[in-house]
Amino acid sequence: MNGTPLSVIILAAGQSTRIKSKRPKVLHAVGGEPMVWRVIRTASTLNPSQIITVIRDDMQDVAKALKGKSDIAIQNPQLGTAHAVSTALPLLKSNKGHVLILYADTPLIHPSTLSQMREKLQRNTAIVVLGFEAEDPSPYGRLITNGQDKRVERIVEQRDASPQERQISLCNSGVFAVNAQHLAAFLKSVDNKNAKKEYYLTDIVAIAQSHGFSCEYTKCHEEEVIGINTRMELARAENIVQQRNRLAAMENGVTLMDPESTYIATNTRISTDVVIHPHVVIGPGTTIEEDVEIRSFSHIEGAYIRKGAIVGPFARLRPGSDIGEEARVGNFVEIKKSVLAKGVKASHLSYIGDAEIDEGTNIGAGTITCNYDGVNKHKTIIGKDVFVGSNTAFVAPVTVGNGAIIGAGSTITQDVEPHSLAIARNRQINKENMAHTLLNKKKKKKKEDNL
Ligand code: UD1
Ligand code: MG
Repeated sequence: MNGTPLSVIILAAGQSTRIKSKRPKVLHAVGGEPMVWRVIRTASTLNPSQIITVIRDDMQDVAKALKGKSDIAIQNPQLGTAHAVSTALPLLKSNKGHVLILYADTPLIHPSTLSQMREKLQRNTAIVVLGFEAEDPSPYGRLITNGQDKRVERIVEQRDASPQERQISLCNSGVFAVNAQHLAAFLKSVDNKNAKKEYYLTDIVAIAQSHGFSCEYTKCHEEEVIGINTRMELARAENIVQQRNRLAAMENGVTLMDPESTYIATNTRISTDVVIHPHVVIGPGTTIEEDVEIRSFSHIEGAYIRKGAIVGPFARLRPGSDIGEEARVGNFVEIKKSVLAKGVKASHLSYIGDAEIDEGTNIGAGTITCNYDGVNKHKTIIGKDVFVGSNTAFVAPVTVGNGAIIGAGSTITQDVEPHSLAIARNRQINKENMAHTLLNKKKKKKKEDNL
């Protein structure tokens, strides 16, 4: 298929009321990314020369999310799936090769399924439809086939189907591969004489035959073509994506101690011999290098975790966290937009934000970077082999030199020179015997009151 140019049209202009959301349905996340991005990513693996997504004019958020990923065609009003494809045609840069038509709310298709469809397109086979055996065919169009050679004669929607046709379980997924040069002619012949008074894309199958072309179908598993219309279907799709991501991680040599409780966004890279304990969430944009251990109840997104580091239990790594080789991030430690170099340890109860911490430094329990002054964010820079005593607050911007020691309980507001000891807290005063004196006074008063 390498030589044949490909254009992709993704339909997304439907009303989507059943998701019951203020947000457009196609921006709801599956595997940590908007579902329409997933469709675009799948399509992109086939190296298309162009991707066009069809949306409504009131879908500005979608248009924004598609910037740099897809061209946009506006369908207004929405008169059906054939009409939607027609609105994309003027944007097509070429009428050569293949056009693949996908739905933005059907994000689980494998690239190999799409390649198989394209392989069946020939000079005479103008359309290949992706079919599936539906457990409940009632919401779908049915493929009327001639049985023998996988040819489709026509597609009939449930509402327009005869009782016999409704018995058919072979359904239309909505995914079409079409020879680009004939698509416009086929679409021109589509009318809206049907139960919904819409321009059905499915009609191009019968139309192609009347033009002397044949149409074929390939089949995939229903799971690949589930459409997301409701929150229940969204949860089901997420579940399927998680199963796939867990399997892929394990196949790549990652140990998941309890796969079912491990959430892995699709957009993550996890190297071999990483061990992930139960109940871990790995969000998008995360890279985990070899031999890293992620302990239970950790939440990670947008982080880079280097070889041999140990994270958790109960750690939170937010975007921009760069955890160095052999570093340790322990329980109740939150890190945001900070670089921890090789061997840095932040083992307990800390917030580290907008910081750079150099090799071998030890961050004591309860250390906080005060990175925000209410108006701006500021940086904390800590050198190599620094020892930060427990319960230290760094009031940023502040820099600590190599080899310095920070006394426990310090509030550091000024830079600390290399190899110095900084103590920034009130000196302790011990008043000899004072506790005894106070107690006796109290006892004496009680006695007098009782008299
Ligand atoms: C469609 C198919 C049906 C198939 C089913 C699979 C037609 C006529 N029917 O039915 O055979 O079994 O999908 O799920 O094609 N859309 C637009 N503009 C429109 C209408 C729809 O962009 O004017 C988009 C929707 O956003 C959606 C897709 O097209 O992504 C399918 O539309 P939908 O209304 O769900 O079609 P179905 O009636 O389910
Ligand atoms: Mg539908």
